[in-house]
Amino acid sequence: MTDQAQPSRPGVLSVVQRVVEFFRRRARATGGGGTKAIEKQIASGKLTARDRIRLILDAGTFHEYDLFVEHKAVDFNMAGKDLAADGVVTGTVGGHPVCIFAQDFTVAGGSLGLAHARKITKIMDHALKLCIPLIGINDSGGARIQEGVNSLAGYGEIFYRNTLASGVIPQISVILGPCAGGAVYSPALTDFVFVVEKISRMFITGPEVIKTVLGEEISMEDLGGARVHTEITGNAHFYAATELECFQQIKKLFTFIPWNNRKKADAFPPRPPKPAYDLDKVIPPDSRQPFDVRDVIRGVCDDSDLIEVHENWAANIVCGFARIQGQTVGVVANQPLVLAGVLDVDSSDKAARFIRFCDAFNIPLLTFVDLPGYLPGVDQEHAGVIRHGAKLLYAYSEASVPKITVILRKAYGGGYIAMCSRHLGADFVFAWPSAEIAVMGPEGAANIIFRKEITEAADPNEMRKQKVAEYTEMFANPYRAAAEGHIDAVITPSETREYVIHAMEISISKVDARPTKKHGVPPF
Ligand code: HXC
Repeated sequence: MTDQAQPSRPGVLSVVQRVVEFFRRRARATGGGGTKAIEKQIASGKLTARDRIRLILDAGTFHEYDLFVEHKAVDFNMAGKDLAADGVVTGTVGGHPVCIFAQDFTVAGGSLGLAHARKITKIMDHALKLCIPLIGINDSGGARIQEGVNSLAGYGEIFYRNTLASGVIPQISVILGPCAGGAVYSPALTDFVFVVEKISRMFITGPEVIKTVLGEEISMEDLGGARVHTEITGNAHFYAATELECFQQIKKLFTFIPWNNRKKADAFPPRPPKPAYDLDKVIPPDSRQPFDVRDVIRGVCDDSDLIEVHENWAANIVCGFARIQGQTVGVVANQPLVLAGVLDVDSSDKAARFIRFCDAFNIPLLTFVDLPGYLPGVDQEHAGVIRHGAKLLYAYSEASVPKITVILRKAYGGGYIAMCSRHLGADFVFAWPSAEIAVMGPEGAANIIFRKEITEAADPNEMRKQKVAEYTEMFANPYRAAAEGHIDAVITPSETREYVIHAMEISISKVDARPTKKHGVPPF
């Protein structure tokens, strides 16, 4: 008997009517803010929330939840206002499993009210329970103004979960539109923030407020655009020219990181570095000449493949993921090309955070050293180089994953200690013959310890040269440190990969017992 043939009872829908009603409701809920709003979204160069999810990971495996959640707001004519999916799409993605949410700007500007926030916190709870990564796509005008304090409550509950999940599951934020006011603090609490040229806008107070309060005019782009956050503030880790490029970057990052803090990142078949990277030719003959440390990293790692984190910020230190014999490593390296590779406020911050991510997610650390020390100057002192520099010492000392250090050239003073020296718990320290391990550079050292001889000499310049040469001969080499056992082996550049592979292989079951404590108190 067909459904149409069923005698219908008044007020009760038939099965067919129910199915029709379901499709009608589903179309309405997935229809975003309607054709006009979607056209406006696309005209502004942005994809829709669901298209973003479809494109971000394995297509076709997305399951959406809480499609029919409704808000209960009544003030400011909100009673009964139909907001499709309450302006946020949430669900899970299969394949490489993740929990995901994407704010839908076409619905009330993606603004966050209580129901919207509860959808997000529910998917966050899910991610934490299932121990799988969380991706959040932010495209929102911020707290839904009509919902008042309930919106603020929603944000607070998101921040709380970001913090609980920190170090347990990887959390990724993608800024694909406005992310304004306190809303910025959820991305700021997550591990990696992705931004896209001309689309991402992140700020606490917008241009209008700045104009009113400070009388200064600034565009949204100049205040908190993609370049600002990848080059100046360091709030964002990855920059892309388009949304599609951004999604490729996310996919690539996922190949390097594990699902949670109890797993290791997926292993890949080992591949040798590309022959173009000849380590024996990297170091220039004159030790004052710079070189690109990425050539060293690429000469050591599988397939010469490196994915840099914060590539355009604090470029005097390189942080990124690579593989050794198919296993992910976190690479930290001074970059002699920029400020001679010194440590300063931003590079210390950058490296410390990266090291803590690697340590939390079982990723061994591989450090390459070539630095003259910490950057001197009033600006740095007043910007807190002591406090920020201490973060790096803390992060390296705290990290209990395998730690392998290769000293390429200069390792002077505090910089020598800070860059994962044996004294901060490195498991293996290797040095190239070009290494210079000393309290400071030969010029500075000679000027201090031989001041009297130099000033009293008939030819002070000649005497200075002589004393610098004397000091260099004695200290600016790896052998004093090797003689003390502070480094384990002096190796040729071309032996580096073999030594690193061996060190990683035998560190696989490393156990690093620490004193019992609730948690440490790092110099945040
Ligand atoms: C409610 C909002 C909204 C909000 C935008 N809309 N932001 N509705 N609450 N916060 C609505 C608009 O009314 C409009 O609805 C639709 O979304 C699209 O907005 P437009 O202004 O037309 O879009 P656009 O020109 O692209 O401008 C985007 C914008 C602007 C720059 C984000 O909307 C804006 O400045 N919004 C307010 C931003 C803000 O001050 N938020 C509060 C921050 S404080 P219609 O119906 O006309 O389509 C905050 C505190 C959080 O977030 C604290 C947490 C700790």
